[in-house]
Amino acid sequence: MGNVVELHHAIVDHYLTIARDRDSTQQEFRKSFDHLGQILAVEMTRDFPGDANSVDTPLEATQGFRLHACIALVPILRAGLALVDPFVELLPTSVVMHLGMYRNEETAEPVWYYNKLDEQVPVERAVILDPMLATGGSVMAAVEALRTYGVAQVEVGCVVAAPEGIQAVQEFDADVDLTICKIDDRLDDNCFIRPGLGDAGDRYFGTA
Ligand code: PRP
Repeated sequence: MGNVVELHHAIVDHYLTIARDRDSTQQEFRKSFDHLGQILAVEMTRDFPGDANSVDTPLEATQGFRLHACIALVPILRAGLALVDPFVELLPTSVVMHLGMYRNEETAEPVWYYNKLDEQVPVERAVILDPMLATGGSVMAAVEALRTYGVAQVEVGCVVAAPEGIQAVQEFDADVDLTICKIDDRLDDNCFIRPGLGDAGDRYFGTA
């Protein structure tokens, strides 16, 4: 079974509270997501592979470490875009492969509108980025697309997730690791994450 990591960190609690607050401005919401994305990026790259090699400091040679370059960041449009920049800051040679889908408001099922994976050069490792994991339908669709495309190692980074969605993703693909700032209480009857933070895409991009 894939690992589920929930971040326990004062900075996460602080900025998540700002993101949850209905009275936060769009600017405050965006800034809080920037910080949460930075911490997610640091945590998810903790054990990334690289090469041990020598480096010359101004004083002497010592052992160094350089990350391997080949990783794909896979934001699920739109809200996943909010997490891309913090990852690119740390991994400037990563590839960004967008997957477009929105959740049907009646059925809560994902509806595809953009997927060009079949035109890309294959990668070994992909990090799906979506701040919200509710039913898990969008993430499962993204995992399925990445598996079809041939990605061996798939991870997911979220800001908030419902336990029901986490379980669904784990049952769908037992090899997917999830890193989540905060596992929330539940899904409500409308399949919204509770307590949640509202619609992340709308709040981040300032749309209604
Ligand atoms: C939201 C969110 C996830 C999805 C989560 O997207 O950003 O992609 O719903 O729900 P699920 O786990 O039940 O699939 P939304 O449809 O609001 O699109 P947007 O990102 O364009 O705002």
